[in-house]
Amino acid sequence: MLEQLIIRGETKQERYEALLPQIKSVVEDENDLIANMANVAAMLHETFGFWWTGFYRVEGEELVLGPFQGPMACTRIRKGRGVCGTAWAKEATQVVPDVELFPGHIACSSASRSEIVVPVFREGQVIAVLDIDSDRLSTFDETDRLYLEQIVQIL
Ligand code: SME
Repeated sequence: MLEQLIIRGETKQERYEALLPQIKSVVEDENDLIANMANVAAMLHETFGFWWTGFYRVEGEELVLGPFQGPMACTRIRKGRGVCGTAWAKEATQVVPDVELFPGHIACSSASRSEIVVPVFREGQVIAVLDIDSDRLSTFDETDRLYLEQIVQIL
């Protein structure tokens, strides 16, 4: 089991490249999904210093707050609501450069300015979403989408 996160790299891509094998090493030793979500949220949060990094799990017709790092957050989100519920309903990653311009965005924190939400699939079904918020505009791009989609596949 990895005992300490070591991330070197100037660019976002270099940091994700350094992070990926360390996430693999943590997840391959553990088969509990909640435990793995907790460590993945912590590792992403520590590496990039995001405002909020965490998971919502699908429970019936709602998303329910799961392991996260950052300030307290909304506990339940209905399918199709907000950025998270949209990622679930559309089964597609949502990259939001300015949350104020996203119709129906749910403001758990007024400091959040941009956001990315990546669905987590199991056997073709969305079972959770990875939600990351930044306190700056336009933090997330195709590089984040590419690597975060790989990271949720490892879970
Ligand atoms: N902004 C999200 C809600 C979750 S919080 O950002 C942690 C949304 O619109 O779905």
